Amino acid sequence: MNEKEIVKWLREDDPDRLTELFRKADAVRRDHVGDAVHLRGLVELSNICRRNCLYCGVRAGHSTVERYRLTADEVMQGARLASEFGYGTLVMQAGEDFGLEGEFVADLIRRIKKEYALAVTLSLGERTEADWRLWREAGADRYLIRFETCNKDLFRVIHPPVGKDDLGFEGRIGALRVLRGLGYEIGSGVMIGIPGQTYADLARDLLMFRELDLDMIGNGPYLAHPETPLGRAAEVLAKNPGAPTDERRRLTAEVGFDYPVSDDPVPADNLTAFKVIALTRLLLPDSNIPSTTAIATNDRLHGRVTGLQSGANVVMPNLTPTRYRALYEIYPNKSATTESPEETHRTAIAQIIEAGRIPGTGPGGRIR
Ligand code: 5AD
Repeated sequence: MNEKEIVKWLREDDPDRLTELFRKADAVRRDHVGDAVHLRGLVELSNICRRNCLYCGVRAGHSTVERYRLTADEVMQGARLASEFGYGTLVMQAGEDFGLEGEFVADLIRRIKKEYALAVTLSLGERTEADWRLWREAGADRYLIRFETCNKDLFRVIHPPVGKDDLGFEGRIGALRVLRGLGYEIGSGVMIGIPGQTYADLARDLLMFRELDLDMIGNGPYLAHPETPLGRAAEVLAKNPGAPTDERRRLTAEVGFDYPVSDDPVPADNLTAFKVIALTRLLLPDSNIPSTTAIATNDRLHGRVTGLQSGANVVMPNLTPTRYRALYEIYPNKSATTESPEETHRTAIAQIIEAGRIPGTGPGGRIR
């Protein structure tokens, strides 16, 4: 598939052809990674972040969010639950919080590895190579860091640099290459329908997944958070759907931000997310692809199951202690924010069964 063919599929609206696409992706998924759905328990270590990404609800500039950082014991509780529930992996995710010291994280990794048979995935943002090496040596297996969009201009606008040496998009791609060099399995992905994104951009994102030969690829629809610059601008645009490009630019400038206007916008919806999952499966048949929380948030009843039926083979149930979950509000109405870990687990298993699949066993790494 080349860029043009991918764009054509992303725009496809014929129900029969789409059914065919999803059926094909589902068959490729079965042939290459089987019917097991790998469960990754997610622990959100900290919502403290030094970055100011324009779309994200825990950006540094969102001054009214209460900030938290879990204690080592709270993290170990999550690991215990993941193990008891039979999961193969614990994912530790946080904002880019340098208060999470290298040694603190390394100790956690060593403890988890000693006490449980869990693979460890980290999703802690752009850190120093020394930290990444330390964590790898402590036993971490995988690292997730999304590049969000391969449109460099858009990347720069939505990710204001945090320092003079911030390398922007190049730094992000560089991070993935360094991580792979250190022996991690690497995961990345993008937001679908991020304002300013075009269909051509999204098609190039998919080709970038293949170029990087990603082991894990997680994508989700952009969800407007009203307490963010991009969310406020998106609100203005939503009220003026038919406005021509110039008018849109003027409308969004009024909310105090020069909004990146796309002349060929991608819808931030689940149908597009399912097409992305399916096409990603066709491009990288043996990769691990989650049916993500953003998809589940968009459609609580069917989102996750439909993702699993469109080519995905991984789910990431949230095991963050319930009292912190609402604080990790990267977008509003995030699914599972009021549940206990047990409820979150039961829902995940029920959805795997509903999708006609079986819960995975073992670490669930990429098998080439
Ligand atoms: N809508 C959708 N996804 C978001 N993310 C952050 N903010 C939003 C939002 N408003 C995604 C980013 C990030 C991941 C952890 O969550 O892709 O990498």
